[in-house]
Amino acid sequence: MEVGSKVFRRRWSLDDIAYDKVDRAVIADNRDWFYLLAASSFVEILSDLYARNLGDYYAGDDETCAWLAYKWGPEEVQHGEALKRYVLTVWPDFDWQRGFDGFRADYAPYCETALLGPTRALEMAARCVVETGTSSFYGMLTHASPEPVLAALAGHIRDDEVGHYKGFYRIYREYQGREPHSRWHVARTIWRRAVEVDQEDAYLAVKNVSLVHEARADFTRHDFRAFRNRIRAWMRQYYPFQSAVKMLLTPLDLPAPLQRLVVPLMVGGARRIV
Ligand SMILES: [Fe+2]
Ligand SMILES: [Fe+2]
Repeated sequence: MEVGSKVFRRRWSLDDIAYDKVDRAVIADNRDWFYLLAASSFVEILSDLYARNLGDYYAGDDETCAWLAYKWGPEEVQHGEALKRYVLTVWPDFDWQRGFDGFRADYAPYCETALLGPTRALEMAARCVVETGTSSFYGMLTHASPEPVLAALAGHIRDDEVGHYKGFYRIYREYQGREPHSRWHVARTIWRRAVEVDQEDAYLAVKNVSLVHEARADFTRHDFRAFRNRIRAWMRQYYPFQSAVKMLLTPLDLPAPLQRLVVPLMVGGARRIV
């Protein structure tokens, strides 16, 4: 895609994924994989909505808006489309559309422009947190996947998410140069978003997968906690804690000796929390 002097390229497309070679036998019986992938496909496809909100928030910054509209947004939606196709390849009976419609209705109120900010620089720092989370998550799936096509797909998505992190970080630096915030202020934003990440959207996505797939009347926070506890066992084994902590701290621009001190402490803390 060419916009003005900029060219936005995708690294891969759905045609690069060997869906016809998926080894269903090694994954189809695993309910946790089904839930995780179906829920992820919902969240990723809805990026469409976030991309528009972010575009509104950065109105007037044409370069950022073009990157959001032609690079970031379409890549996130492609993640959702690719995961959806994988899910329907392995679990063809799942009524994906009905689950997604439920998720969209539940989650749309959380995606308002008013919830972004409080400033353009800090929103970019917060987006770096989100992309740290997604790139680490798909990094974990790449290593945890029992099925080779899924491992390759998760690897493509992880690489895109790292690219998104870099894109948001670059824009963060530009805004931070123009309207600097103290390290403390940035740290507070990062902390808040890190605590929020993975909560509401993940809960609502898993809930809607469950309501459709198991024809349940309800899916409680207790059910979600039980699911999350099972995923934590994978995290302990496969989550890239070290790189995640480094990515999280980068916007703080800590002096090197302090960074060397903090990283192992935080990695240890994160492992214990998990
Ligand atoms: Fe994504
Ligand atoms: Fe992303």
